[in-house]
Amino acid sequence: MAYRDIYQSWQDDPEAFWLKAAEAIDWVEAPTKALFDDKAPLYEWFRDATVNTCYNAIDRHVDQGNGDRAAVIYDSPITGTKASFTYAQMQTRIAALAGGLAALGVTKGDRVIIYMPMVPEALEAMLACARLGAIHSVVFGGFAANELAVRIDDATPKAIIAASAGLEPNRVVEYKPLLDGAIEMSAHKPDVCVILQREQHPCELGPRDVDWYEMQKGTTPADCVPVEGTHPAYILYTSGTTGAPKGVVRPTAGHLVALNWTMKNIYNVDPGDVFWAASDVGWVVGHSYICYAPLIHGNTTIVFEGKPVGTPDAGTFWRIIEEHNVKSFFTAPTAFRAVKREDPKGEFVAKYDLSCLNQIYLAGERADPDTIEWMQDKLDKPIYDHWWQTETGYTIAGNPVGIEPLPVKLGSPTVAMPGFDVQILDDAGHPLPAGELGAIVVKLPLPPGTLPTLWNAEDRFKKSYLTAFPGYYETGDAGMIDEDGYLYIMARTDDVINVAGHRLSTGGMEEVLAAHPDVAECAVIGVTDDLKGQLPVGFVCLNNGATTPEADVVAGCVKLVREKIGPVAAFKLCCVVDRLPKTRSGKILRGTMVKIADSADYKMPATIDDPAILDEIKVALQGIGYAK
Ligand code: COA
Ligand code: AMP
Repeated sequence: MAYRDIYQSWQDDPEAFWLKAAEAIDWVEAPTKALFDDKAPLYEWFRDATVNTCYNAIDRHVDQGNGDRAAVIYDSPITGTKASFTYAQMQTRIAALAGGLAALGVTKGDRVIIYMPMVPEALEAMLACARLGAIHSVVFGGFAANELAVRIDDATPKAIIAASAGLEPNRVVEYKPLLDGAIEMSAHKPDVCVILQREQHPCELGPRDVDWYEMQKGTTPADCVPVEGTHPAYILYTSGTTGAPKGVVRPTAGHLVALNWTMKNIYNVDPGDVFWAASDVGWVVGHSYICYAPLIHGNTTIVFEGKPVGTPDAGTFWRIIEEHNVKSFFTAPTAFRAVKREDPKGEFVAKYDLSCLNQIYLAGERADPDTIEWMQDKLDKPIYDHWWQTETGYTIAGNPVGIEPLPVKLGSPTVAMPGFDVQILDDAGHPLPAGELGAIVVKLPLPPGTLPTLWNAEDRFKKSYLTAFPGYYETGDAGMIDEDGYLYIMARTDDVINVAGHRLSTGGMEEVLAAHPDVAECAVIGVTDDLKGQLPVGFVCLNNGATTPEADVVAGCVKLVREKIGPVAAFKLCCVVDRLPKTRSGKILRGTMVKIADSADYKMPATIDDPAILDEIKVALQGIGYAK
């Protein structure tokens, strides 16, 4: 069947479509019904089923006679380590870890925060939680203690699983002091912290800590605990408009069904094939495509601890693809921009045999045509952009390569996937014709596996996603659909920016800057950056009578964002200005500031209070190399 037929078959009978997809999952009790709409506009999928995620990701492959197949390959150019774990080995390791956690009192429904670098044990921790029906929440290693503390207070975990350290090319990230600092800051305290000692940088254990291996001794390996279809598999915090992150909830059954469907239909791999997503377990791409989907589908997944460049060179991607026989590869455009910058002629590409690789997928941020063209030219492989969000957990719009590869149009992630009725609306909620720019929305209900709510925050869920356009999910992205049904993602409609594929809140950064003792008022905008897509730039107005030298205020602001949000914010540019440009009603004109920074044309906003301030902003931006 062609893509159009499959999409149509979903539209004609979504219930039958998803029940059919559900047949690929091993249920304890199979669903008799897919969608439950009695709480609309909140929807539930596969509510009457029971199932276990870890069983589907690991045990069933062993039961089906594939225990000897590689499940996880660990390749760490940063430590010079490589290892491979079969499904049978993963089963033993995960059951033992889950047994240890159970002995510590972790049971179904308990939250467990996981704060780990890119090591196979991070996947084991996630799957051990899934085995017990515990709800994990992975926190990215590049976040500061304060961000971890916010998540501890929201998720109230019984246990935290962490490593002693992560390894960045330029430094060791000591997790333990960050963890201890976060627990000290948080009102909620976990009962126990399970620490994986990394031989490169072990840490000292405190009274609340137990060693990863020691705590497993003398305990019984745990069986898979069946959970209801709607049971939260995990919570993943993501950035919104304010500094308080949103806890996206992932429902168990829909997650299993939908992710499994994507592996063949979008990523075009069959069980046994090697699939590689070069991201981090701290992001949704890492959850869905380093850990869950490949394993649920019986593929081999790669845990890569390194960077696209500098570990040791711009050939790392190609080396891994050749060495591990990768068939489908997925990363963020920023990673390729880094490779392209280092190796513009593609000399490293020529050193490796990439005949095993069938296609490459990009997501996480806009895939700029320049980068795609460079990749097409140097790699001679199909390059597929696809668009999705932490909230959905998988592709909203993409190229259904396993069904039928559709022609690529540069700048478009292609078409809506079954399950997603994507539409473009104007501010008043009216549908817009092809080619016109508006808010991108998805008609409710969203498909299985997408967020049913936010953790502890149903009102915020409704307000953030369901209120602006009743009957639709508001994506927060703006764009258009062309005559052929191809979608184009143009910009965010909120204060979220995307830095090296990492989703960050400018509002959150403003909250940090506002806390600086010399800062009276501030604004943070996202400016265009050749490597990272966007970079945050801060503008601060000082309190009357402030005596601190401006350079010290700037350095203090940069330090504060690194301390409060983390190095991942990449906040290094900040200007002191006398005033911020505002409308007469006092709204800061951030959009106009972005245009000035990017040297783009802009219209003088009709409601601007004092146009002269824009000239001052331009001068400040020129001082840091923008607004040329
Ligand atoms: N733990 C601790 N710190 C981390 C971290 C982690 N897991 N990941 C990144 N950081 C730190 C970096 O060391 C850097 O710190 P610095 O300011 O001291 O140099 C800072 O956070 C910013 O990191 P990043 O934005 O990743 O920049 P970079 O210069 O280190 O690397 C790229 C740039 C493009 C190579 C890198 O972003 C990359 O590989 N991206 C791949 C895409 C990706 O993983 N996207 C995720 C969503 S799909
Ligand atoms: P995250 O939740 O971190 O995955 O970020 C989701 C956001 O990243 C989306 O809402 C978009 O703004 C952006 N994004 C993700 N994929 C793409 C893409 N292929 N093209 C353009 N923007 C994208």
